[in-house]
Amino acid sequence: MAQINPSILSADFARLADEAKAVEGADWLHVDVMDNHFVPNLTLGVPIVEALGRATDIPLDCHLMIEDPDRWAPQYAEAGAGSVTFHAEAAAAPVRLAREIRAQGARASMALKPATPVEPFEDLLPELDMLLVMTVEPGFGGQAFLDIMLPKIRRTRELISKHGLELWLQVDGGVSESTIERCAEAGADVFVAGSAVYGAADPAAAVASLRAKAEAAAAGAARACGH
Ligand code: DX5
Ligand code: ZN
Repeated sequence: MAQINPSILSADFARLADEAKAVEGADWLHVDVMDNHFVPNLTLGVPIVEALGRATDIPLDCHLMIEDPDRWAPQYAEAGAGSVTFHAEAAAAPVRLAREIRAQGARASMALKPATPVEPFEDLLPELDMLLVMTVEPGFGGQAFLDIMLPKIRRTRELISKHGLELWLQVDGGVSESTIERCAEAGADVFVAGSAVYGAADPAAAVASLRAKAEAAAAGAARACGH
């Protein structure tokens, strides 16, 4: 089952509660936290996550593009995020951090920037509920999808199968009507979409249409593999 997570980075920050309502049917709301250090952009923090959590029934998927997530990430779980993603490049002790996030009752997730390979993290995967393969350099919405990430998505899916894990595989960056099928065929099952959803005339319809495309592509890929 494909999950579609609209990114509020492309929403109107002055009307976040309404923007959450506009994507009824979305699986999660993707919340991009940026600190102006890990990435050259600054967005929002714990108080807004708390407020947004009170304003919507859609669970929050917090993507932390911040330095020192070991120190800050557990607060997002405490603030009510259902899923907390930290970056592998920024975490000093990813296993301890993932365990802390899970202990707070949230799903623990780790993100990889485009130049970070998945292979060194193979043994850590059982500690995670989701792995995020970035398909743009993190920092901004509306960037072009990096096709060169498709082999990494494929290799990650193979590692998940090899170990028989329940891990979700998320892609984020440039995911749209024209790229989502390639991501699903490669093995992604959770899709973040910012501009493709909030740039659409009807954001809720865009969510449904992206999900239908991803599911059709995943079914096609499974048939081709003889599953
Ligand atoms: C980028 C963020 C993304 C961003 C995606 O660093 O992590 O979540 O909102 O936006 P689109 O879908 O427009 O590429
Ligand atoms: Zn993101």
